Amino acid sequence: MDTGSIRRAGGALEDIMSLTPIGVRRLDESRPKITTATLREQKLRHEPITCITAYDYAAARLVDEAGVEMVLVGDSLAQTMLGYENTLSLTMDEMLHHVKAVRRGVKHALLVADMPYGSYQVDLESAVGNAMRFVKEGGAEVVKIEGGEKRADLIRHIIDAEIPVAGHIGLTPQSVNVMGGYKVQGKSLNGIEQLMRDAVALDRAGVACIYLEGMPREVAAMITAEVGAPTIGIGAGPECDGQVLVFHDILNLTFGPPAKFVRRYGDAAALITNAVQAFRADVRSHRYPSDEESYHLPKETKEGLDTVLDRKRAMRR
Ligand code: KIV
Repeated sequence: MDTGSIRRAGGALEDIMSLTPIGVRRLDESRPKITTATLREQKLRHEPITCITAYDYAAARLVDEAGVEMVLVGDSLAQTMLGYENTLSLTMDEMLHHVKAVRRGVKHALLVADMPYGSYQVDLESAVGNAMRFVKEGGAEVVKIEGGEKRADLIRHIIDAEIPVAGHIGLTPQSVNVMGGYKVQGKSLNGIEQLMRDAVALDRAGVACIYLEGMPREVAAMITAEVGAPTIGIGAGPECDGQVLVFHDILNLTFGPPAKFVRRYGDAAALITNAVQAFRADVRSHRYPSDEESYHLPKETKEGLDTVLDRKRAMRR
């Protein structure tokens, strides 16, 4: 029997529906595109800025459609997505792979990409070249660099190449071995002085914003009042111009107790576990797939097939 004819007779609809289609992204014309200028305007208006991390297309779409102003492809993807112990081994290629996916999902928010450890510490030329890759290949609008005063010169060079830069000071995870662990910074008078110098140096270099991570709220408040650039805090108290949290933290996808500053807004771990367990139970009890979830032969083909099978059975007898 011609099985090809059965497949063809299956009908055009079944052919296209054999793959779950990903819904088309429609632009919301009423929402403006966020730029680095928007962030400054929000700071001046004391309108809090919201930033969240995203590392793949689906999450990027969801957070962008939820209305955040900034989406950060953080190098925290080393731990959240790739299971590394820290951010140090993450490569340019791994970062770029995720930035490209997020770019396809983000239409309104400002897209910030972390420069991974080793991509900007070697020399100015390779640092500017790597920053350009995030713009040209990844579609990022801003690149983020960890470090204060000592990065000011490099940041000027990257901005000279028409690439906006976000600073990141305080608890900078790429310095974990120098800091001796993930410790809150700026708790001593010397520490506060250094953080103030770092923030002012970044501001003078022309950064688009400064991420303030892991520092007492009093210090973050002083920095926020001192600099023109918007400050985006994480574990830095409520006086920052904006707040950033890690997608996996707010959704309980971190397999451990959260840091003090994390607020859990949902339990995706429970949702996923329940869904997968329900699927497995249905498969094992033959409740999935149902007849409605199955493709069927067209009536004529089914009748033809039954005739052929009846004839074969009769010949065997
Ligand atoms: O990589 C990251 O997620 C970050 C934020 C925590 C600011 O840098």
